[in-house]
Amino acid sequence: MPPAIGYAIRRENRPVLADPAINAAEITFEQAHRGLRTSRYTGMVEFDYVSVHALEMSLAGAEPPPRQYLSALKDIADENGAAAISDHLGFTRDHSGGVGMGHFAAPPFSKAALGATCRNIDCVQDYFDDRPFYIENIAYLFKFKGELTEEQFLSGVLKATGCGWLLDVTNVYANGLNHGYDPYEFISRVMPSASRVQMHLAGGFYDEQAGFYVDSHSEPITDDIWNLYRFALLQGEGKVDAVFIERDANFPDEAGWRSEVRQARDIVEELEARPCLLAL
Ligand SMILES: [Fe+2]
Repeated sequence: MPPAIGYAIRRENRPVLADPAINAAEITFEQAHRGLRTSRYTGMVEFDYVSVHALEMSLAGAEPPPRQYLSALKDIADENGAAAISDHLGFTRDHSGGVGMGHFAAPPFSKAALGATCRNIDCVQDYFDDRPFYIENIAYLFKFKGELTEEQFLSGVLKATGCGWLLDVTNVYANGLNHGYDPYEFISRVMPSASRVQMHLAGGFYDEQAGFYVDSHSEPITDDIWNLYRFALLQGEGKVDAVFIERDANFPDEAGWRSEVRQARDIVEELEARPCLLAL
């Protein structure tokens, strides 16, 4: 079964959501605050696959997310017929829930943080019962000290909890550049630990002055990212449920929206059509 493909829904891409290349939608929970019906976010378009993406579970923090937050998230998922829920492998606030940073920080890649993260994800999965949960690898610039690598930490989380991997292809690319590792190796080593997979694709830019790649969601997706995506699809063959393109700034015109999602689908179709070597 090929992955469902679509956009992280924004006001700016609603006009193209009925494009035949699109059969999936991702709703950001924190933006789904004005009523609980799918049509508020997606118009009258029917999707094969809807996922609700949360920003504030702070799963790599010391404590599980508040029950109230999970309950509101479940309401949005139910009202929109969502097949899945996701959030990030990072933390956004202090242990008391009193101070929020407004962005994700990567945890220290340590055994202690791994244990806390797995306990939090177990709580979330218990709460959502049989609705699959996916954890997204984040792009980070600052790295806390820890005895594990990011790859070991992420693989450990996926293995211990059995949750899905929301593989943000661009974040792997960004971290590879900014922290000096091979994004292809990272994906091939982590993928076996993932029970199921969603993907994010986005375009950022390399800031020459600062000397790092910025995951800005503001640029067209480049060939480097498309190639890594193609590789990730092959690595995750048979377990990729959905692919979502994220764009949050410098929005393209209608043709631009349509061509990028078309390209994401063309690559899937190109791989599906390749001859099966095992059958020869
Ligand atoms: Fe993402």
